[in-house]
Amino acid sequence: MEATFLVHDEQTVIIRGERFRKYLTAETIRSRTEEMGARISEEYAGKKPILIGVLNGAFMFLADLMRAIDIDCEVDFLKLSSYGAAKISSGEVKELKRIDADIEDRHVIVVEDIVDTGLSMDYLMSQLQTKNPASLKSATLLHKFEATTVDVQLDYIGFRIRNLFVVGYGLDYGQVGRNLPEIYILEDQMGPGTEPERVSK
Ligand code: PRP
Repeated sequence: MEATFLVHDEQTVIIRGERFRKYLTAETIRSRTEEMGARISEEYAGKKPILIGVLNGAFMFLADLMRAIDIDCEVDFLKLSSYGAAKISSGEVKELKRIDADIEDRHVIVVEDIVDTGLSMDYLMSQLQTKNPASLKSATLLHKFEATTVDVQLDYIGFRIRNLFVVGYGLDYGQVGRNLPEIYILEDQMGPGTEPERVSK
């Protein structure tokens, strides 16, 4: 079988013939996730929030975020069909997996690995709002702010990033690379002004 994934050196991986360079280390992701978890623990004390992870990409961030939350909380998952950005604007969005939990009167936090155009998160927030949760917020590890085309509600953001192709820590390139513990970007995209921005949200 043809190799689609190769760790080249400490800073570089080659996926499907493209060279990617390390962008966010596992330690940087961990410390930011812990800050986000601490803030959620403080803001939701006594409320038993339910975290809803959007499959597939969010599974790794969600697992670490949950471990960084030290109050009572629950988890559920949903999955949207993947037609790229067209999946929602074309009205073709399908929920391939729905949540099992009844979220009426519950405090809900939707958890994503990345918000790109914002269409998925925007769609989910309006869908979940119809189920009458007590409160509804969103959390994302990455926000590709230049790519976002809708005024989407983002309550907890790990890092704001430029319009970069990212892979690792749950994010894939043609289903490859999700298992990397760090986040990488295309080597060609490295340069001044591309650093991730840690935001106070
Ligand atoms: C990614 C990501 C978000 C969505 C964001 O999922 O996990 O769900 O795209 O894009 P948007 O802001 O433009 O809507 P993808 O469809 O790639 O599926 P995956 O999580 O299974 O990789």
